[in-house]
Amino acid sequence: MASFGDGTLNPLIGDGLYFGGDYNPEQWDRETWVEDADLMRKARVNLVSVGIFSWSRIETSEGKYDFEWLDEVLNLLLDRGVYVDLATATASPPAWLIKSDPTVLPVDHDGRRLSFGARQTYCPNSESFRSAASRLVEELVIRYNDFPGLKMWHVSNEYGCHVSRCYCDNCAAKFRLWLQKRYGGIEALNHAWGSAFWSQLYGGFDEINPPRIAPTFANPTQQLDYYRFASDSLRELYEMEAAIIRGHSDKPITTNYMGFFKGVDQFAWRGVGDFVSLDSYPDPHAAQVHVDAAAGYDLTRSVAEGEPWLLMEQAPSAVNWRGINGVKKPGQMRALSLSAVARGANGVMFFQWRAAKAGAEKFHSAMLPHAGAESRIYKEVQQLGDDLTKLSGVASAKVSASVAIVFDWNNWWAIELDSHPTDHIFYLLSIRKFYGSLQRMGITCDFVSPKDDLSKYKAVVAPNLYLCDRDFAKSLTSYVDGGGALLGTYFTGIVDQNDHVVLGGYPGYLRDLFGVLVEEFAPLRPGDGFDFSLVNSPTIHRGTLWSEVVSPTTASVLAKSNDEVGVDSLGVGQGGVLFENSFGRGRALYLATEVEDDFLDIVVERLLGDKFERSASEEVEVVERGQYTFVINHGVEVDFSLNHRQRDLLSGRVLEEAVSLKPYDVLVLEDV
Ligand code: GLA
Ligand code: ZN
Repeated sequence: MASFGDGTLNPLIGDGLYFGGDYNPEQWDRETWVEDADLMRKARVNLVSVGIFSWSRIETSEGKYDFEWLDEVLNLLLDRGVYVDLATATASPPAWLIKSDPTVLPVDHDGRRLSFGARQTYCPNSESFRSAASRLVEELVIRYNDFPGLKMWHVSNEYGCHVSRCYCDNCAAKFRLWLQKRYGGIEALNHAWGSAFWSQLYGGFDEINPPRIAPTFANPTQQLDYYRFASDSLRELYEMEAAIIRGHSDKPITTNYMGFFKGVDQFAWRGVGDFVSLDSYPDPHAAQVHVDAAAGYDLTRSVAEGEPWLLMEQAPSAVNWRGINGVKKPGQMRALSLSAVARGANGVMFFQWRAAKAGAEKFHSAMLPHAGAESRIYKEVQQLGDDLTKLSGVASAKVSASVAIVFDWNNWWAIELDSHPTDHIFYLLSIRKFYGSLQRMGITCDFVSPKDDLSKYKAVVAPNLYLCDRDFAKSLTSYVDGGGALLGTYFTGIVDQNDHVVLGGYPGYLRDLFGVLVEEFAPLRPGDGFDFSLVNSPTIHRGTLWSEVVSPTTASVLAKSNDEVGVDSLGVGQGGVLFENSFGRGRALYLATEVEDDFLDIVVERLLGDKFERSASEEVEVVERGQYTFVINHGVEVDFSLNHRQRDLLSGRVLEEAVSLKPYDVLVLEDV
C-alpha cells in the first residue's frame, strides 16, 4: 500500500476499486436491511456511505444517543463483505437543535431566515451548530473507529450545496475577523475595497457587514471577499471535523465535492482530508453528457494533484431535482462510470443504494429501483460490479496530462460580478468550450490553479482570465519564456486580486507576454457579430459576444476582421482577432472574441503545434491511465482501430487491428 498525505494509508490504492453508494437504512425496517445486504453482496458492492443524514436518528435529543440500530446495520453489512464509509452525520442538523437556538438557521442575501424542514439548515458560523456537530463527531468516532468494517470517514456532505453563503449576524461577526486577518488595518481594507468610491470609507471593522441586499451594486471587492470568506468558512467546518477525527482515528478522511461548484474553492481546500471525492450529476439530456462528466472527473483528479480519487455519488439513471429529469440509456451509466475510472477514480459509487419510497428524493434513481432486483437498472449495476472486479489492477496506474486549462475560483467569482461591460460572459461556458475542443482532439487535460507549477505542460489554455494578479502573471510569463505555449482570450488581465483595474491598457500585467495592447472593448448584443478570416484564407468565421480594439505591439496577426465590416460598434474595426507572440523560448496566443467551435479547434491546433494527433471521433473517448487504454463509445456504432495486438480486460479477448464498437461499448486495453 502506498502512503498518502500526512502519512495515513490511502485506502484508494491497494484495495482495488470501490463499488457501492449512499445507504440510508434509517428510512427502512430491519427486514429490508437484510435484503439490502444480500442484494449488495450479489452485486459485488464492497463499500457504502452510511449515516449522512442520520443526525436526528442517532442523537434523538441533546446528548441522548441511539447507536444500536447503526451497530446492527453495520454488522449485517460486514457479514456480507460490505465495508463502510461512515458519515459524521452533520450534514443536516436535527429539529431539537434549531429549537434550542434558531440562529443555527442560515439567512439568505435578502435577509430572510430559512426554515427547518429541508436539509442543510445551518449557518457555518453558528457556534451552537459547531459545538453540537463537534460533540456528535467525537461520539461517533470513539464508538466506531475500531469497527472492523470501517474503511473511511465521510465528513458532512456536499459543503455549500444549498447554502454556500450565509448572511446572518454570526457570519457578519466572523467576516470582520476574517477581514482583520486579511488586511491588518482598516486603511488597508479601504484601499483594497476602493471604498473612497460612493462614500464607502470605513472607520473601523465594526462598521462592516456582509454584502447584503443594497440599493444598487454592492462594492465589488466586498462581494469578492465574501465569496472567499464563505468558502473559507466551509473549509473551517471540514477542518474542525477532520481534527476531531484525527484525535481518535487513523482512518482516511474525505468529503464529497461537487466539481464545478462556485461556492467551494477546491484548490484552496487542498490538504484538508486525505483524499478527494466527487459527486457527478451531468444532465443526460445535455448534448454531450460524457464531456460534461469527463470535465468534472479531470477537475477532481487535478484537485487531488494526480492521486487517485473516489467517485462518491452519481445517479444510476435520472435525478429528481431538474425541471425535466433525463434518464441514462441502457449501457450509458456503465460507460460514464468507466470514464471516471479511466480518468483516475479508484471507485464508483452512487446516490443511492435503494430508491426511497418517501421524501423529496423518491423519484431519484437508485441502484435498487422501486421495481426491485428484477430490473434493468439493478442488472446494469451487477454488470458494473463484475466489470470493476476485473479492473482492480488499474488502481495503481495514474493519468498524466500534457495540456492544462487554467481554472481559478477567484476569477470565476470576479468575472461574474455585476456592473461589468456585459453580463453574458459565463466562465464555465468558456472553460467548457476549450475543454470540448481538447476532447475532440483526443487530449486529456488537467485543470490548474494560479498556484500550480505549469512547467510540466506542453500547452496551457487560460480562457477569460479577467483577474490575474502579479504573481500569476509572473508564473505565466516564465512558463512561456521557458518554452511553453499559452492561449489567452478576451477580457483577460483586467484586474488584480482586489478587483482593481491594472492601468496602462489591457491585458494588464500580461501585455508584454501577449504582445498586444487593448485600448477599448465593445460587447455585442445576442445575435450581433462580425466576420473575420485567417490571414491568407478566404474562409469566413464569425465573432460574437465581444469585440475589442487590439494593437499588436510585438505579436503577429493570424486572423483579422474583413475589411468591409468593423469588429465593433465603434467603427474602428478591421482589427486583429487572433494574435501570436514569440516570447522567450515559447509562444503566447491571444483570441479577441468569442468564436464557434470550428475556429476554436483551429486556434487550439495552432497552440498545440503538430505535437498532437486528432482522434477518430469525438464520441469515442480514448484515455490512457498508465499502461491501460480506455476506449469508450458514447455515440453510434463505429469501428475503432488498434495500433497493435492488445487484450481487453473486460471481455478477456485479444484484439487486433480493428474492432467494432456498439453504443456505450467499453474496452480497457493492455498490451499482450
Ligand atoms: C447530492 C447529495 C445526495 C443526493 C443527491 C441527489 O449529491 O449529496 O444526498 O441528494 O444529490 O442527486
Ligand atoms: Zn450565518
